Amino acid sequence: MKHILLLTVSLLCLYLPARANKTYILVQTDHTQLVLTTDDAGNLRTRYYGSRIDAPWTFLNDDKLFTGPNGSGPMTIPTTGGVFIGTPALHVRYADGSHNTELYYTGHTSEYRAGVFTTKVMLRDPVTALAVVLIYEAYEKEDVIVAHTEIINGGKKPVELLDYASSALHFNADKYLLTHTWGGWATEMQVERELLGHDTKVIESRRGVQATQGNNPSFMLSLNTAEFSETAGEVIAGALAWSGNFRLSFEHDNAGKLNVIAGINPHAATYSLAPGKTFITPDMVWTYSNNGAGQASRNLHRWARNWGVYGGGQVHPTLLNSWEGAYFSFTTETLLRMIDDAAGMGLEMFVLDDGWFAKDYPRNGDDAGLGDWEVNTAKLPEGIDYVASYAHDKGLKFGIWIEPEMVNPASNLAHRHPEWVVKSPGRDIYQERNQWVLDLSNPAVQDFVYGIFDGVMQLSKNIDYVKWDCNRVIESFGSTYLGKEQDRFYVEYCQGLYNVMRRIREKYPRVLIQCCSSGGGRVDYGALRYFDEIWTSDNTDGDCRAYIQYATNLIYPPFIMGAHVSAVPNHQSGNVTPLKFRFDMACAGRLGLELQPKHFSEHERALAERCIASYYQYRDLVFTGDLYRLSSPYDSDYYALMYVSQDKSRAVVYTYCMRYQHRAGSQHSFRLDGLDPKRNYTVKELNVNRSCWWGDGDVFSGEFLQSGAFNPDLPQKYSSAVFYLEAQ
Ligand code: DGJ
Repeated sequence: MKHILLLTVSLLCLYLPARANKTYILVQTDHTQLVLTTDDAGNLRTRYYGSRIDAPWTFLNDDKLFTGPNGSGPMTIPTTGGVFIGTPALHVRYADGSHNTELYYTGHTSEYRAGVFTTKVMLRDPVTALAVVLIYEAYEKEDVIVAHTEIINGGKKPVELLDYASSALHFNADKYLLTHTWGGWATEMQVERELLGHDTKVIESRRGVQATQGNNPSFMLSLNTAEFSETAGEVIAGALAWSGNFRLSFEHDNAGKLNVIAGINPHAATYSLAPGKTFITPDMVWTYSNNGAGQASRNLHRWARNWGVYGGGQVHPTLLNSWEGAYFSFTTETLLRMIDDAAGMGLEMFVLDDGWFAKDYPRNGDDAGLGDWEVNTAKLPEGIDYVASYAHDKGLKFGIWIEPEMVNPASNLAHRHPEWVVKSPGRDIYQERNQWVLDLSNPAVQDFVYGIFDGVMQLSKNIDYVKWDCNRVIESFGSTYLGKEQDRFYVEYCQGLYNVMRRIREKYPRVLIQCCSSGGGRVDYGALRYFDEIWTSDNTDGDCRAYIQYATNLIYPPFIMGAHVSAVPNHQSGNVTPLKFRFDMACAGRLGLELQPKHFSEHERALAERCIASYYQYRDLVFTGDLYRLSSPYDSDYYALMYVSQDKSRAVVYTYCMRYQHRAGSQHSFRLDGLDPKRNYTVKELNVNRSCWWGDGDVFSGEFLQSGAFNPDLPQKYSSAVFYLEAQ
């Protein structure tokens, strides 16, 4: 095929190793390099992950590293067995009850295709015939390496996988500063930083679904420093592409080395692998920056845009969502008036949220109807097509809400298919939000869930967007379908979800699908392979959103973040913030409104229209620009960020006062970033009649703007300003 260069070589032939019986393997991108070597015995060792260096094969001459305190050194795939006694990435129990696996290098291949250099390293245990293939995809331009592992049972009896991580990396630094996120419903993605002590830190989820409503399967590691820096120092960022239970472990050993292991959480999930069968782990996404955290985020965001997120790089419509404006109480008339208002304000889509379905058990609250996906004609006698077509006639797209993985006990589905419900035999099923989970490990349930999506799409040819919700965790799991093989449940639930999404994408490649799970309960690069965007959080308070959005963007790109302006007092927090602050915060993501527009005063409506109109001027920067964080709401009283176009000709800068300082402190200085120092930019504040910056409307060099001279006056808590920059 044109533009595709396919090259399969054995790197063994490319360079002469320093010692004939040893070899090295390079996995490299434009600016980064992962170096693996074999030792005399044939163990595979991770020697280096960092900026590209010359003569990486020199590592072959250093075998001191192989005598770690436990005699183990940096194993590329640490296993239980052999000389290794640390945390394993792979732990297998064989049919004879033994636990030892020793993997030796048997060869590797490399293939280049359109910007991605794929390296496969083969290893084998000569005693048990267990084979492992480590697969590394190096995304050249994005400086991202995506790794996963294939575990092949080459023996004659089944084996049990007790640990089966995706990828491990080994680091050698003086200090390790770990940045990760924790949270809960409406407080997703809260940043936590800690210097790693000499023990093992584990970040995990055992929630089954909604796996990221607590911790997120991602992190940043700043090396050799106790300070988090946006612009300086070595930073490794990682994100596991898996929407189920996960485990990230950081083992800081007594020699100061750090083993990072990322993969599926094996909790209650020992995986039995039959002879001849292969288990394929999810992907682990890695990046390295020697210019601080900002570059690490930008690498991941670029990779997400070009490869990692479904539909990445496309601009998404602004929208009005019905949830906080109408909840379950609406009629056709309510929706039509909301559509009129959305169109009148210049929005591009209307999304009908929960409450439109189920007849026998009508969905008029969260206690009934899930599972019965037929239009509630008592509420919407004209049907969905009528509303969707009305939206289209007004020039809007139309979206609709579903929660297909769940069932209310009060539904026809629950009565018809009790065997489809996740349930531990002989025990009651706990309810959360009055609902149960459907067992997606069962192919019949997968068909049903696929059918829900497909069926809803038949309600109108004018459905452009689906919000896919998932509002509870799984505890007390049990699958009728899996019988005695309950250990497979957590893994096969997630694989079942992906099977369904694959089928949906085959049939509906262009429908926008939002991944919602009570807000940000399913934010990971596994889900994002199928979903276009996420519902970042049910917490739409502009203040709380600053922390959530900042942290989300450490790893995930701004363009996936549904960010809505809602009413005050905020329905979650009770907080009151100015409408302009709420807009300025929401405009840093995919802008939406989630309120009843008819409750706007004339002045508010005019401001809303102005903010929406100006968003279109720079929206492409939110979707395709590079993010530069100027200050963090966690560390500063002022939060600021900017997006810069790839050619550095345009930028948008957002600034917010998060805490009241005092008069003298209100003109906070920000160093803009990412601009071309040599070009001149006009700077214009948006959505105000009088600017809060003395330089508004004037022209400044990129160098000047990046010198700290940019100091808008943000005198009060929740003062905010958005500036648009254009090169002359
Ligand atoms: C939880 C979601 O996060 C909300 O946005 C809304 O869709 C409700 N579910 C509807 O039940």
